[in-house]
Amino acid sequence: MEQLVIRGQRRLKGEVAVSGAKNAVVAIIPAAITAKGVSIIENLPCIEDVAGLVSTLNSLGAVCDFLDERTLRIDSTKVDRWEATGDAVRRMRASYYLMGALLGRFRQAVVATPGGCNFGSRPINLHLKGFSAMGAEVIEENGGDIIRLKADKLHGANIFLDTASVGATINLMIAASTAEGTTVIENAAKEPHIVDTANFLNMLGAKIRGAGTDVIRIQGVEELSSAEYMIIPDQIEAGTYMIAAAICGGDVTVRNVIPKHMDSLSAKLEEMGCKIIEGDDYIEVISDGNLKAVNVKTMTYPGFPTDLQPQMSALLSKAHGTSTLTENVWENRFQYVNQLRRLGCDISIDGRVATIKGVDCLVGNEVNATDLRAGAALVIAGLAAKGETRIGNVKYIDRGYEKIEYKLRAIGADIERVRVQR
Ligand code: EPU
Repeated sequence: MEQLVIRGQRRLKGEVAVSGAKNAVVAIIPAAITAKGVSIIENLPCIEDVAGLVSTLNSLGAVCDFLDERTLRIDSTKVDRWEATGDAVRRMRASYYLMGALLGRFRQAVVATPGGCNFGSRPINLHLKGFSAMGAEVIEENGGDIIRLKADKLHGANIFLDTASVGATINLMIAASTAEGTTVIENAAKEPHIVDTANFLNMLGAKIRGAGTDVIRIQGVEELSSAEYMIIPDQIEAGTYMIAAAICGGDVTVRNVIPKHMDSLSAKLEEMGCKIIEGDDYIEVISDGNLKAVNVKTMTYPGFPTDLQPQMSALLSKAHGTSTLTENVWENRFQYVNQLRRLGCDISIDGRVATIKGVDCLVGNEVNATDLRAGAALVIAGLAAKGETRIGNVKYIDRGYEKIEYKLRAIGADIERVRVQR
């Protein structure tokens, strides 16, 4: 078993570069199999989910080769299977994108229902309702464990999403790219990775307009072909390092970011008393560690991202005064709070609202990541805590953060990965 061991209270200073966006790459790799051609995908993050998707694509008949650590060549010309039910599929949330991709390519798909972080019920009813509106028959087998989709004819449809779901927006966009006729998705989600996936599909020959707004129009084309594409920087990884700089105090430049994607966080950090300097592709965070309490509400983009909510809880724990943090996206994304309390955080939960009282000092302890962003929150609290913090279940953190200990060490943190016997 591995642990991250942090000796906290070091000031952070220097530069850290952000990797390619996890939530874009996990959509773009499956989307590549919609095309009969070769996709070259650059700026890949080195994270667990990429490995899982590559092995799944290979099992479907694609030929995937890493041209280097960050460049993946996917030849999907000979993909000839549409059943994806293996372990890798079950472990990953994003494997639901195989449904849209296989349905678009073969008019049929058999996909195991996805796993991923657990923060309450994570339905995919909006994905399935959309496929059904496009003419697919949706059969849930083994008590919903496997989804079988079949369409004699996949056609365009007008789809209004009850909730602006990121996954449903992307999945329907992928399937609609090769459906007959035009699909209109209303109340679409607007996250940066939706725009990134649309750009990739357009490079393959799709005709998608409006991604990044709440109405997306997709004019189906007969076939998609080949593309070379570079993944955008990871908004959440960037935000995590910005929050680390804010809590520790110091001067950190986060490179390879799209500053616009960070607006909601930058605004909150400024409100808390940090200085934020933006360049074309970097953000510098200057903090004296003297932070004001603020109120935060998570929302779909361009609102404050739910995927930075746990990290923000850690930060607000060191602010002067009482803050509130309202989770509007997931029904139960405060499960990690017990672990933060073990480091001295004073957080109480009432439904979707966390009330966070700033404390003078966080204190190191042994804790466990309960999911990916929860793990990131523990790292942030550990960086600010007095003494040693040991974080278990590092595998969750590795699902979304490339070499987190190397990147943090480069800006002055005292953090290492150790093997422990259990
Ligand atoms: N929802 C439904 N029905 C659906 C789909 C979603 O009711 O069919 C509800 C969900 O229950 C939730 C809300 O809609 O309350 C938003 O869910 P969404 O579909 O947008 O989430 P997702 O696509 O499953 C992606 C990210 C998550 C991120 C959310 C919200 C990926 C692979 N995952 O999930 O990322 O929290 O969007 O921005 O892109 C993470 O990176 O740590 C992570 C969990």
